[in-house]
Amino acid sequence: MEGAFMFQCFFFIALAIFSYLLFKHNSKASKTESKLPPGSLGWPYIGETLKLFSQNPSLFFDSRYRRHGEIFKTHILGYPCVMLASPEAARFVLVTHADLFKPSYPKSKETLIGPSAIFFHQGNYHSQIRKLVQNSLSLNVIRSFIPAIEFIALSTLDSWCNGTVINTFQQMKKFTFDTAVLSIFGELDSEFKDRLKYNYHIVDTGYNSFPINLPGTLFRKALLARRRLEGMIHDKITQARERKWEQNNLLTCLLNYKDEDGQFLEDNQIADNIIGVLFAAQDTTASVLTWIIKYISDDQDILTAVEREHKALYVSSEGGTQTSLTWAHTRNMPFTQRVISECLRMASIVAFTYREAVIDVEYNGFLIPKGWKALPLFRSIHHNPEFFPQPEKFDPSRFEGVQKPNTYMPFGNGTHACPGNEVAKLEMLILIHHLVRNFRWELATPKSGDCGVQYAPFLIPAEGLPAKFWKKSDAKGHA
Ligand code: HEM
Repeated sequence: MEGAFMFQCFFFIALAIFSYLLFKHNSKASKTESKLPPGSLGWPYIGETLKLFSQNPSLFFDSRYRRHGEIFKTHILGYPCVMLASPEAARFVLVTHADLFKPSYPKSKETLIGPSAIFFHQGNYHSQIRKLVQNSLSLNVIRSFIPAIEFIALSTLDSWCNGTVINTFQQMKKFTFDTAVLSIFGELDSEFKDRLKYNYHIVDTGYNSFPINLPGTLFRKALLARRRLEGMIHDKITQARERKWEQNNLLTCLLNYKDEDGQFLEDNQIADNIIGVLFAAQDTTASVLTWIIKYISDDQDILTAVEREHKALYVSSEGGTQTSLTWAHTRNMPFTQRVISECLRMASIVAFTYREAVIDVEYNGFLIPKGWKALPLFRSIHHNPEFFPQPEKFDPSRFEGVQKPNTYMPFGNGTHACPGNEVAKLEMLILIHHLVRNFRWELATPKSGDCGVQYAPFLIPAEGLPAKFWKKSDAKGHA
């Protein structure tokens, strides 16, 4: 009897403790749930990934922005995410509270680029590498690249004039690869450059593959090509050390750097950052250039104004006799600069960026839980009519004035903002200059008849914008 009583007491106490714990847990969960931003996490695991990548991303973001406002949750590529669609929220994540978020990239990208590359780091190591990359791409350095970029631009454009329809994006990638190689290594012999191009192309095809390291997979091929690429970079490092290269480029900046303890960077740190810059420079600039061709082809008045600006350049200098560009010329292309700015806004090829909350973070009363991704939505901000009236209209004149702070971020913002933005703009100005002065082109309808957009992995016009180019002096369609 006494035993039964004791058992009852024990049972009720245990039940009370269990109920209390359950209550605490539920109330905490519902409190957390209620503090999460509005929005749907979609299907288990796939979340809303298919919805995002099966349509123009503007439609995906806009519908949620209209429904929920500046901050909402979703689930993409296997991760719960908080999307941030206002200038203030983007600034919170990228600038004022950047230390609460770390950069976040898919594992396959980190493995193929290399874990010591600038993108994957915060703090001391990141700022050291960043200074070196910035120095190697400073205005003072890149102005000396002009003749070499011009040479690459002209030979690239010439190679398109063979009477066939080309994939503009793929061809632009050749141009942006060669210019990236120039800023990394300076002038290179063509045999080394060809091997570099061959191997990097295989690495490039692996970035968006499934990270399955089995014989025959794209990922395995990319890993092997990456190993060969690393070997080639090591050879260049050895040569540069032996010959004490004086040239000012990324390789020499990385090679000559010593930290406060007198330590040089390790060879693999140098290789990872070189492959990282190739990755950052190639597809981005090629996508924007492809969009520029599309936008100026679609608006004859804008094309005429660009042509007029470039024709006038030489007339105003040296009495019209000079034929190659100077730094001063590139600083005197205001209309083309505005076309580029408007293209960067309209296309917003880097539609958003990824960060990951390192602790639970509160923004405007909403919780961004630790481990969740936080995505500042550059594209939504660039297409918000409050900051850019009639946002779907391609209108370079909107860049005659100054933009509201933090509303225009094609090159990102804060500690990870793009250190290559000036060289990217310089490349674009030089290519456009020679294109409109010496060439003509006609857009072709994509084979699929689809005139929309595709991911490659940045947004590009369908099928890379098929087009036919010819020299101004030649009969149409002939090389
Ligand atoms: C039009 C072309 C380009 C666009 C739109 C662009 C855009 C961006 C953006 C948005 C970021 C920031 C990403 C983030 O915060 O997560 C970034 C970072 C970066 N970009 Fe660019 N980029 C372009 C061209 C280039 C070029 C030509 C180079 C080098 C030659 C370059 C090198 C880098 C590097 C190294 C970073 C990482 C910086 C860091 O983590 O501190 N980019 N770029």
